[in-house]
Amino acid sequence: MAVLPILCYPDPRLHTVAKPVPQVDGTVQALVANMFETMYAANGIGLAATQVNVHQRVITIDVSEERDQPLVLINPEIVWSSPDTQVNDEGCLSVPGIYDGVARASSVRVTALNLDGQPHTLEASGLLAVCIQHEMDHLLGKVFVEYLSPLKRNRIKTKMAKAQREATR
Ligand code: NI
Repeated sequence: MAVLPILCYPDPRLHTVAKPVPQVDGTVQALVANMFETMYAANGIGLAATQVNVHQRVITIDVSEERDQPLVLINPEIVWSSPDTQVNDEGCLSVPGIYDGVARASSVRVTALNLDGQPHTLEASGLLAVCIQHEMDHLLGKVFVEYLSPLKRNRIKTKMAKAQREATR
């Protein structure tokens, strides 16, 4: 397993639309193992393959306190969203240090393949629902800061560019 480099906003590769996984094979399983290692190493609760520059519909999640409930969603599709929404502060491993409120459906029902390539359906609410919607946005090339006002987004872009300049100095 390996910790993979995470793309940082405003890297244009974060706006790539991911393709469905044609078959859950050893390559996909290895990607998932590396994504979990990367996500846990960065103390994240979710990671989309897009963020490690692999443009396939693969998500890893663990919203548990003990970090012992790994959830993998391959080719996820939201088949139902609750009409009621909730605003939660979100953060993202691709936008380090930035947290802001985003409105999301309070509950969702998702279908996806597991690591054995078997389809399953999941009902989620609370933090898990937020995380699933946030990660699925990544697969569509969307980063959560795109929900914020243009003013806030520009401020974040400036801050990120400055941090990256300092990091590579
Ligand atoms: Ni994110």
